[in-house]
Amino acid sequence: MKALIKIGGTLLDNADSRHDIARQIAMLSATGAQVTVVHGGGKQMTRFLEERGIQSTFVRGLRVTTEETIDAVLKVLAGTVNSQLVAALGLAGTRAVGLTGIDAGLATAEQLDAELGFVGRVITSDSGLLNTLTAAGFLPVVACVAGGLQGEVYNVNGDSMAVAVASGWGVDRLVFMTDVAGVLDADKQRIPLLTAEDCLDLIRTGVAAGGMQAKLNAAIEAVSGGVREVRIVKGSEPDIVNRVFAGEELGTKVVKA
Ligand SMILES: Nc1ncnc2c1ncn2[C@@H]1O[C@H](COP(=O)(O)OP(=O)(O)OP(=O)(O)O)[C@@H](O)[C@H]1O
Ligand SMILES: [Mg+2]
Repeated sequence: MKALIKIGGTLLDNADSRHDIARQIAMLSATGAQVTVVHGGGKQMTRFLEERGIQSTFVRGLRVTTEETIDAVLKVLAGTVNSQLVAALGLAGTRAVGLTGIDAGLATAEQLDAELGFVGRVITSDSGLLNTLTAAGFLPVVACVAGGLQGEVYNVNGDSMAVAVASGWGVDRLVFMTDVAGVLDADKQRIPLLTAEDCLDLIRTGVAAGGMQAKLNAAIEAVSGGVREVRIVKGSEPDIVNRVFAGEELGTKVVKA
């Protein structure tokens, strides 16, 4: 079984939470599953930029990315956040390897929209490296950074990155671990099941905003592109990885129709 788990930045910001998730992923990996992890780091990025007096601006849930921001993306996402997670997964007993989409053409992007600067849309994903690593027992940990056709570097939303890598690699399971119980409705109640059409409605009506808008857009792309379902769950719930992979109906399930 090939599984791609995307971990949101908030879950990795605290050492206890990071180690807890790492232990859970190590347990899944020990069952023989081929696991690749993609991670975000929105919270860490905002804090790093704030400390340098830079205010973050978002358009449709995506961070407007200047030259200065892309440099921070490399330092924070590809640097600190990635290495800390690799260290935690290593301690948990896996042979984790830190990567970005730049490595071996794992994710090649082009500019998504001039308004967003260096925000990339992944156009190709070469999963050769993932196959090589997972077949040899390594656990790839991918920061959401992609390479461009001219050697430039793009900031890719973590969820879009996860979907691009998942589609290229041909996963059986795609799970987004985040900091909320799932997709919440206007009354803040968890929605157990959504179709791609429902997701568009939630975005249109503004119920799903910010990071969730980006997440649902990514989920729509995944299910439209042949991924059977995308599962969005709260990463801090006890034993979450095991429960999700055992088939428990947790969080929000997104399907095509
Ligand atoms: N309808 C909604 N239901 C749930 N969360 C929502 C909704 N609308 C907006 N959100 C926001 O979306 C956030 C989740 O997206 P966010 O991008 O912050 O996390 P992430 O994708 O897990 O992490 P990262 O961006 O670091 O990878 C929630 O914390 C919440 O504030
Ligand atoms: Mg996000």
